[in-house]
Amino acid sequence: MRALFFLSGNNTIFAKDEVFSLFESYELKYEIIYDEGQFLILECSKSNIDFIFRLGLTHFILDLICDLDIDERINKNISSIDWDSKLSLDRTYKVRVKTKDKMDYGNLELSIAKSISNFFKDKIKANLTNPMDEIIGITFKRRLFIGKKIFERDREGFNIRKPQLRPFFSPTSIDPRIARAMINISQAQKETLDPFVGTGGILIEAGLMGLDTYGLDIEEKSVVGTKVNLLNYEINKFDIRLGDARKILDIFGRTFESIVTDAPYGRSTKIDKDKEKMYNECFLSIKESFKRKCIIGLDKEYSFEDIGFKIDRVYSFRVHKSLVRHLYLLS
Ligand SMILES: C[S@@+](CC[C@H](N)C(=O)[O-])C[C@H]1O[C@@H](n2cnc3c(N)ncnc32)[C@H](O)[C@@H]1O
Repeated sequence: MRALFFLSGNNTIFAKDEVFSLFESYELKYEIIYDEGQFLILECSKSNIDFIFRLGLTHFILDLICDLDIDERINKNISSIDWDSKLSLDRTYKVRVKTKDKMDYGNLELSIAKSISNFFKDKIKANLTNPMDEIIGITFKRRLFIGKKIFERDREGFNIRKPQLRPFFSPTSIDPRIARAMINISQAQKETLDPFVGTGGILIEAGLMGLDTYGLDIEEKSVVGTKVNLLNYEINKFDIRLGDARKILDIFGRTFESIVTDAPYGRSTKIDKDKEKMYNECFLSIKESFKRKCIIGLDKEYSFEDIGFKIDRVYSFRVHKSLVRHLYLLS
Protein backbone atom coordinates (compact mmCIF):
# COMPACT_ATOMS: atom_id res chain seq x y z
CA MET A 1 0.00 0.00 0.00
CA ARG A 2 1.03 3.57 -0.60
CA ALA A 3 0.09 5.56 2.52
CA LEU A 4 -0.05 9.35 2.57
CA PHE A 5 0.54 10.81 6.04
CA PHE A 6 -0.72 14.40 6.26
CA LEU A 7 1.38 15.80 9.10
CA SER A 8 0.97 18.62 11.61
CA GLY A 9 2.16 21.90 10.11
CA ASN A 10 3.64 23.27 13.34
CA ASN A 11 6.07 20.49 14.22
CA THR A 12 6.59 18.74 10.90
CA ILE A 13 10.03 17.24 11.58
CA PHE A 14 8.88 15.92 14.93
CA ALA A 15 5.69 14.60 13.32
CA LYS A 16 7.69 12.77 10.65
CA ASP A 17 10.01 11.20 13.21
CA GLU A 18 6.98 10.06 15.18
CA VAL A 19 5.83 8.07 12.12
CA PHE A 20 9.29 6.61 11.43
CA SER A 21 9.78 5.73 15.12
CA LEU A 22 6.56 3.73 15.23
CA PHE A 23 7.53 1.75 12.12
CA GLU A 24 10.98 1.09 13.58
CA SER A 25 9.63 0.23 16.99
CA TYR A 26 7.35 -2.46 15.49
CA GLU A 27 10.19 -3.54 13.16
CA LEU A 28 8.19 -2.84 10.00
CA LYS A 29 9.69 -2.04 6.64
CA TYR A 30 8.80 1.11 4.71
CA GLU A 31 10.11 3.01 1.75
CA ILE A 32 9.87 6.79 1.46
CA ILE A 33 8.16 7.70 -1.83
CA TYR A 34 7.55 11.43 -1.28
CA ASP A 35 8.57 13.73 1.54
CA GLU A 36 7.79 17.41 1.26
CA GLY A 37 6.23 19.87 3.72
CA GLN A 38 3.33 18.25 5.52
CA PHE A 39 3.23 15.37 3.03
CA LEU A 40 4.89 12.03 3.67
CA ILE A 41 4.15 9.10 1.36
CA LEU A 42 5.40 5.66 2.36
CA GLU A 43 5.23 2.29 0.62
CA CYS A 44 4.36 -0.16 3.41
CA SER A 45 2.29 -3.22 4.17
CA LYS A 46 -1.37 -2.55 4.96
CA SER A 47 -1.85 -5.62 7.12
CA ASN A 48 0.28 -4.63 10.09
CA ILE A 49 -0.02 -0.92 10.64
CA ASP A 50 -2.65 -1.08 13.41
CA PHE A 51 -0.35 1.07 15.54
CA ILE A 52 -1.31 4.17 13.55
CA PHE A 53 -4.07 4.91 16.11
CA ARG A 54 -1.21 6.00 18.41
CA LEU A 55 -0.16 8.97 16.26
CA GLY A 56 -0.39 12.41 17.86
CA LEU A 57 0.99 14.67 15.14
CA THR A 58 -0.56 13.22 11.96
CA HIS A 59 -3.86 14.84 10.91
CA PHE A 60 -4.95 11.91 8.73
CA ILE A 61 -3.67 9.00 6.63
CA LEU A 62 -4.86 8.06 3.15
CA ASP A 63 -4.60 4.77 1.35
CA LEU A 64 -3.40 6.53 -1.80
CA ILE A 65 -5.37 5.86 -4.98
CA CYS A 66 -3.64 8.24 -7.38
CA ASP A 67 -1.43 11.26 -7.66
CA LEU A 68 -2.31 13.47 -10.65
CA ASP A 69 -0.70 16.56 -12.16
CA ILE A 70 -3.18 19.40 -12.22
CA ASP A 71 -3.19 20.46 -15.89
CA GLU A 72 -5.74 20.70 -18.69
CA ARG A 73 -6.33 16.91 -18.54
CA ILE A 74 -7.16 16.83 -14.83
CA ASN A 75 -10.93 16.28 -15.21
CA LYS A 76 -10.39 13.58 -17.83
CA ASN A 77 -7.82 11.85 -15.60
CA ILE A 78 -10.16 11.98 -12.60
CA SER A 79 -12.97 10.47 -14.68
CA SER A 80 -10.86 7.43 -15.53
CA ILE A 81 -9.89 6.45 -11.94
CA ASP A 82 -10.55 2.79 -11.13
CA TRP A 83 -12.47 2.85 -7.81
CA ASP A 84 -13.07 -0.87 -7.62
CA SER A 85 -10.53 -1.77 -4.95
CA LYS A 86 -11.37 1.16 -2.62
CA LEU A 87 -15.18 1.60 -2.71
CA SER A 88 -18.08 -0.79 -3.05
CA LEU A 89 -21.84 -0.75 -3.68
CA ASP A 90 -22.72 -1.97 -0.19
CA ARG A 91 -20.98 1.02 1.45
CA THR A 92 -21.68 4.77 1.51
CA TYR A 93 -19.07 7.41 0.71
CA LYS A 94 -18.28 11.10 0.87
CA VAL A 95 -15.71 13.22 -1.02
CA ARG A 96 -13.72 16.07 0.53
CA VAL A 97 -11.01 18.18 -1.15
CA LYS A 98 -8.42 20.22 0.75
CA THR A 99 -6.36 22.89 -0.96
CA LYS A 100 -2.86 23.26 0.47
CA ASP A 101 -1.45 25.58 -2.19
CA LYS A 102 -4.01 28.40 -2.22
CA MET A 103 -4.78 27.88 -5.94
CA ASP A 104 -8.21 27.77 -7.53
CA TYR A 105 -8.51 24.55 -9.50
CA GLY A 106 -12.29 24.64 -9.95
CA ASN A 107 -14.67 22.18 -8.34
CA LEU A 108 -12.45 19.10 -7.95
CA GLU A 109 -14.83 17.68 -5.33
CA LEU A 110 -17.61 17.53 -7.90
CA SER A 111 -15.31 15.96 -10.54
CA ILE A 112 -14.28 13.21 -8.10
CA ALA A 113 -17.86 12.59 -6.96
CA LYS A 114 -19.00 12.35 -10.62
CA SER A 115 -16.19 9.92 -11.42
CA ILE A 116 -17.26 7.64 -8.53
CA SER A 117 -20.91 7.86 -9.45
CA ASN A 118 -20.24 7.08 -13.14
CA PHE A 119 -17.89 4.23 -12.26
CA PHE A 120 -20.63 2.54 -10.19
CA LYS A 121 -23.34 3.46 -12.75
CA ASP A 122 -25.18 5.69 -10.21
CA LYS A 123 -25.76 2.73 -7.89
CA ILE A 124 -23.38 3.75 -5.08
CA LYS A 125 -24.83 5.93 -2.30
CA ALA A 126 -23.24 9.14 -1.02
CA ASN A 127 -23.74 10.07 2.63
CA LEU A 128 -22.47 13.50 3.55
CA THR A 129 -23.08 13.30 7.30
CA ASN A 130 -22.05 9.79 8.31
CA PRO A 131 -20.27 8.05 5.43
CA MET A 132 -18.68 4.60 5.77
CA ASP A 133 -15.80 5.59 3.49
CA GLU A 134 -14.26 8.97 2.91
CA ILE A 135 -12.37 9.88 -0.25
CA ILE A 136 -10.02 12.81 0.31
CA GLY A 137 -8.25 14.84 -2.35
CA ILE A 138 -5.46 17.28 -1.42
CA THR A 139 -3.82 19.71 -3.78
CA PHE A 140 -0.19 20.67 -3.34
CA LYS A 141 2.23 22.23 -5.84
CA ARG A 142 -0.10 21.62 -8.80
CA ARG A 143 -0.61 17.96 -7.88
CA LEU A 144 -3.75 16.29 -6.66
CA PHE A 145 -3.35 13.37 -4.26
CA ILE A 146 -6.48 11.24 -3.94
CA GLY A 147 -6.95 8.48 -1.39
CA LYS A 148 -9.28 6.69 0.96
CA LYS A 149 -9.02 7.84 4.57
CA ILE A 150 -7.80 5.09 6.89
CA PHE A 151 -7.08 7.21 9.96
CA GLU A 152 -8.02 10.64 11.27
CA ARG A 153 -6.70 12.08 14.50
CA ASP A 154 -9.40 12.44 17.13
CA ARG A 155 -9.28 16.22 17.35
CA GLU A 156 -12.07 16.41 19.95
CA GLY A 157 -10.36 13.81 22.12
CA PHE A 158 -7.10 15.79 22.18
CA ASN A 159 -8.98 19.04 22.82
CA ILE A 160 -10.72 17.72 25.92
CA ARG A 161 -7.35 16.63 27.32
CA LYS A 162 -5.78 20.09 27.07
CA PRO A 163 -3.99 20.92 30.36
CA GLN A 164 -6.48 23.63 31.38
CA LEU A 165 -9.41 21.20 31.10
CA ARG A 166 -7.99 18.56 33.44
CA PRO A 167 -9.22 18.44 37.06
CA PHE A 168 -5.65 19.03 38.33
CA PHE A 169 -3.99 21.77 36.32
CA SER A 170 -0.56 23.36 35.90
CA PRO A 171 0.40 25.81 33.13
CA THR A 172 3.73 23.98 32.59
CA SER A 173 2.08 20.84 31.27
CA ILE A 174 2.87 19.79 27.72
CA ASP A 175 0.29 19.73 24.88
CA PRO A 176 -1.21 16.20 24.68
CA ARG A 177 -0.29 15.80 20.99
CA ILE A 178 3.37 16.57 21.74
CA ALA A 179 3.29 14.30 24.80
CA ARG A 180 2.00 11.47 22.63
CA ALA A 181 4.64 12.04 19.95
CA MET A 182 7.34 12.04 22.66
CA ILE A 183 6.18 8.62 23.86
CA ASN A 184 6.06 7.28 20.30
CA ILE A 185 9.52 8.64 19.51
CA SER A 186 10.81 6.88 22.64
CA GLN A 187 9.59 3.66 20.93
CA ALA A 188 7.76 2.53 24.07
CA GLN A 189 5.64 -0.54 23.43
CA LYS A 190 4.95 -1.80 26.93
CA GLU A 191 5.53 0.89 29.56
CA THR A 192 6.65 4.44 30.31
CA LEU A 193 8.01 6.12 33.42
CA ASP A 194 7.73 9.88 33.96
CA PRO A 195 9.97 10.73 36.95
CA PHE A 196 8.74 14.39 37.07
CA VAL A 197 5.11 13.53 36.66
CA GLY A 198 3.61 16.97 37.48
CA THR A 199 -0.03 16.75 36.43
CA GLY A 200 0.39 13.47 34.54
CA GLY A 201 0.09 14.92 31.02
CA ILE A 202 2.57 12.43 29.55
CA LEU A 203 1.11 9.45 31.41
CA ILE A 204 -2.47 10.24 30.31
CA GLU A 205 -1.37 9.77 26.69
CA ALA A 206 0.68 6.66 27.53
CA GLY A 207 -2.28 5.14 29.36
CA LEU A 208 -4.66 5.86 26.47
CA MET A 209 -2.25 4.05 24.15
CA GLY A 210 -2.45 1.00 26.38
CA LEU A 211 1.00 1.31 27.96
CA ASP A 212 1.66 0.63 31.65
CA THR A 213 2.16 3.98 33.37
CA TYR A 214 4.65 4.73 36.14
CA GLY A 215 5.22 8.14 37.69
CA LEU A 216 7.22 9.86 40.39
CA ASP A 217 7.03 13.32 41.90
CA ILE A 218 8.61 15.03 44.88
CA GLU A 219 5.39 16.85 45.72
CA GLU A 220 2.44 15.09 47.32
CA LYS A 221 -0.08 17.31 45.52
CA SER A 222 1.31 16.27 42.12
CA VAL A 223 1.10 12.58 43.05
CA VAL A 224 -2.53 12.94 44.17
CA GLY A 225 -3.38 15.28 41.26
CA THR A 226 -1.90 12.92 38.66
CA LYS A 227 -3.99 10.04 39.99
CA VAL A 228 -7.13 12.20 39.81
CA ASN A 229 -6.26 13.19 36.22
CA LEU A 230 -5.59 9.61 35.11
CA LEU A 231 -8.88 8.39 36.60
CA ASN A 232 -10.66 11.31 34.91
CA TYR A 233 -9.64 9.86 31.51
CA GLU A 234 -10.55 6.33 32.64
CA ILE A 235 -6.98 5.13 33.10
CA ASN A 236 -7.33 2.91 36.14
CA LYS A 237 -4.07 0.99 36.13
CA PHE A 238 -1.05 3.06 37.24
CA ASP A 239 1.76 3.22 39.76
CA ILE A 240 2.44 6.80 40.87
CA ARG A 241 4.83 7.25 43.80
CA LEU A 242 5.97 10.09 46.01
CA GLY A 243 9.74 10.41 45.77
CA ASP A 244 12.84 12.00 44.38
CA ALA A 245 13.89 11.47 40.75
CA ARG A 246 17.47 11.14 42.05
CA LYS A 247 16.51 7.73 43.43
CA ILE A 248 14.48 6.01 40.71
CA LEU A 249 16.13 2.59 41.13
CA ASP A 250 15.80 2.66 44.93
CA ILE A 251 12.14 3.65 44.74
CA PHE A 252 10.96 1.20 42.05
CA GLY A 253 13.66 -1.47 42.39
CA ARG A 254 13.80 -1.97 38.62
CA THR A 255 14.49 -0.36 35.25
CA PHE A 256 11.90 0.71 32.63
CA GLU A 257 11.56 0.15 28.88
CA SER A 258 11.34 3.91 28.27
CA ILE A 259 11.46 7.14 30.24
CA VAL A 260 9.58 10.15 28.88
CA THR A 261 9.63 13.35 30.87
CA ASP A 262 9.56 17.11 30.96
CA ALA A 263 12.10 18.33 33.54
CA PRO A 264 11.22 21.04 36.08
CA TYR A 265 12.16 24.44 34.70
CA GLY A 266 12.37 26.22 38.03
CA ARG A 267 9.72 28.80 37.10
CA SER A 268 6.46 27.62 38.53
CA THR A 269 7.77 24.36 40.00
CA LYS A 270 9.33 23.98 43.43
CA ILE A 271 12.84 22.71 42.81
CA ASP A 272 16.18 22.72 44.60
CA LYS A 273 18.08 25.97 44.95
CA ASP A 274 21.00 24.40 43.17
CA LYS A 275 19.29 23.53 39.92
CA GLU A 276 22.42 22.37 38.06
CA LYS A 277 23.32 19.88 40.79
CA MET A 278 19.73 18.65 40.90
CA TYR A 279 19.64 18.19 37.09
CA ASN A 280 22.93 16.33 37.13
CA GLU A 281 21.84 13.91 39.85
CA CYS A 282 18.38 13.35 38.38
CA PHE A 283 19.74 12.73 34.87
CA LEU A 284 22.30 10.23 36.21
CA SER A 285 19.47 8.43 37.99
CA ILE A 286 17.43 8.44 34.74
CA LYS A 287 20.45 7.12 32.81
CA GLU A 288 20.64 3.97 34.90
CA SER A 289 16.86 3.39 34.88
CA PHE A 290 15.86 2.94 31.21
CA LYS A 291 16.47 0.10 28.76
CA ARG A 292 15.79 1.43 25.26
CA LYS A 293 15.25 5.14 24.78
CA CYS A 294 14.56 8.15 26.88
CA ILE A 295 13.24 11.57 25.99
CA ILE A 296 13.72 14.59 28.23
CA GLY A 297 12.20 18.06 27.74
CA LEU A 298 14.14 21.08 29.00
CA ASP A 299 13.96 24.86 28.62
CA LYS A 300 17.64 25.12 27.69
CA GLU A 301 20.43 23.25 25.95
CA TYR A 302 22.14 20.61 28.07
CA SER A 303 25.35 18.59 27.53
CA PHE A 304 23.91 15.12 28.04
CA GLU A 305 27.02 13.57 26.40
CA ASP A 306 29.11 14.82 29.32
CA ILE A 307 27.22 12.53 31.69
CA GLY A 308 27.33 9.47 29.45
CA PHE A 309 24.19 9.67 27.29
CA LYS A 310 24.20 9.38 23.52
CA ILE A 311 22.11 12.19 22.00
CA ASP A 312 20.16 10.67 19.09
CA ARG A 313 18.32 13.88 18.21
CA VAL A 314 17.24 17.25 19.61
CA TYR A 315 13.93 18.91 18.69
CA SER A 316 13.41 22.55 19.64
CA PHE A 317 10.03 24.31 19.70
CA ARG A 318 9.03 27.80 20.70
CA VAL A 319 6.20 27.33 23.20
CA HIS A 320 5.65 31.05 23.81
CA LYS A 321 7.65 34.29 23.76
CA SER A 322 9.90 33.39 26.68
CA LEU A 323 10.00 29.57 26.44
CA VAL A 324 11.77 27.35 23.92
CA ARG A 325 11.39 23.68 24.77
CA HIS A 326 14.23 21.35 23.74
CA LEU A 327 13.34 17.68 23.56
CA TYR A 328 16.37 15.40 23.81
CA LEU A 329 16.06 11.89 22.44
CA LEU A 330 18.70 9.90 24.30
CA SER A 331 20.03 6.38 24.33
C1 LIG B 1 7.70 20.54 34.47
S1 LIG B 1 6.75 19.72 35.72
C2 LIG B 1 6.29 18.28 34.86
C3 LIG B 1 5.19 18.55 33.91
C4 LIG B 1 4.49 17.29 33.52
N1 LIG B 1 5.08 16.72 32.33
C5 LIG B 1 3.01 17.55 33.27
O1 LIG B 1 2.48 17.21 32.20
O2 LIG B 1 2.34 18.10 34.14
C6 LIG B 1 7.92 19.26 36.87
C7 LIG B 1 7.48 18.41 38.10
O3 LIG B 1 8.70 17.90 38.65
C8 LIG B 1 8.57 17.78 40.06
N2 LIG B 1 9.93 17.69 40.64
C9 LIG B 1 10.84 18.68 40.85
N3 LIG B 1 11.98 18.17 41.36
C10 LIG B 1 11.79 16.84 41.48
C11 LIG B 1 12.59 15.76 41.92
N4 LIG B 1 13.84 15.94 42.34
N5 LIG B 1 12.08 14.51 41.86
C12 LIG B 1 10.81 14.29 41.44
N6 LIG B 1 10.00 15.27 41.02
C13 LIG B 1 10.48 16.53 41.03
C14 LIG B 1 7.79 19.02 40.47
O4 LIG B 1 7.15 18.78 41.71
C15 LIG B 1 6.82 19.15 39.27
O5 LIG B 1 5.60 18.56 39.59
